[in-house]
Amino acid sequence: MPWPHMGCEAGRSTGDKMHIPVLLRESVDFLNVRPAGVYADLTLGLGGHAEEILKKIKSGRLIGIDKDMQAIERAKEALEAYGEKLAVFKADFQEAGELIRRQGYNGLDGFIMDLGVSTLQLKTPERGFGFSSEAPLDMRMDRSRGESAADLVNGLPEGELSRIIFEYGEERWAKRIARTIAARREEKRIDTTRLLARVVEDSIPRGAWPPKTHPATRTFQAIRIAVNGEIDALKAALPEMISMLRTGGRAVVISYHSLEDRVVKDTFRVGARPCTCPPDFPKCVCGKKPALRILTPKPVAPSEAEIKSNPSARSAKLRAAEKI
Ligand SMILES: C[S@@+](CC[C@H](N)C(=O)[O-])C[C@H]1O[C@@H](n2cnc3c(N)ncnc32)[C@H](O)[C@@H]1O
Repeated sequence: MPWPHMGCEAGRSTGDKMHIPVLLRESVDFLNVRPAGVYADLTLGLGGHAEEILKKIKSGRLIGIDKDMQAIERAKEALEAYGEKLAVFKADFQEAGELIRRQGYNGLDGFIMDLGVSTLQLKTPERGFGFSSEAPLDMRMDRSRGESAADLVNGLPEGELSRIIFEYGEERWAKRIARTIAARREEKRIDTTRLLARVVEDSIPRGAWPPKTHPATRTFQAIRIAVNGEIDALKAALPEMISMLRTGGRAVVISYHSLEDRVVKDTFRVGARPCTCPPDFPKCVCGKKPALRILTPKPVAPSEAEIKSNPSARSAKLRAAEKI
């Protein structure tokens, strides 16, 4: 099923920006925060989830990580009152394991990942995540490294662009969009948000435009996921973070895209049922023991009331597991 949403919009007031943390009560309940525990928020954003965790910590610690410098600065400011209970780092969550060990922690009592983009990113035009105003086509969460959206859009072969738009955007017009991009970039580099949005508009017949969203929404989501390597980062980081959990430690992941949710579901399933023996074997001979207990047989979705007050939450799915 297509999930048109681009990510989470998190709800703390940060000047003129608002970020409403998605599934806040549910995620913190699943984390089961112990006052003396060590926790990691691997997608700190503006610190909405982090603040609820910090309220429950007494002598423990929260390690907050985000790869976006702007988010790090805002979160530090917003959570200043929590002093030494919080340690904040700018890093990719793929580097979190090593970073946490370097801080002297050899295990975690829980971690949370709230994937996708933040409102701050979406609503800061010059970051290039949106198309409502003209801006450079960037979309990098970490602006200090990697290729921008403009680099990908102008540099990738047409077939690769088509695959990305189809897989990450679940966009049925992917082939046509990629074809138009390939033709237009011959005339002029597509290096702004409005230019790309117009190419998409021109690729999809008017009658087939989605009724409630802009026709470029899915393409922008797809390019953003590719620019930030979001699926591969999750695939790499989740097993490592699970391996850092102490017995009884909890993993809580909120995703906004079917591919992300599949990675979470499969990773948890492998942790809970690692046995690789053929199904017709009378008993297990591979000796692999479960490391996880799945706490959410079905993903938890936001209530109607939450979606009404925060439409950005509509595609969220929460999964949680406990180390055993
Ligand atoms: C949906 S927001 C999180 C909002 C946060 N829970 C809050 O309540 O304010 C997702 C955040 O994850 C960050 N992020 C995404 N991928 C990341 C990665 N691989 N490593 C570190 N941070 C990442 C983004 O920069 C963004 O700030």
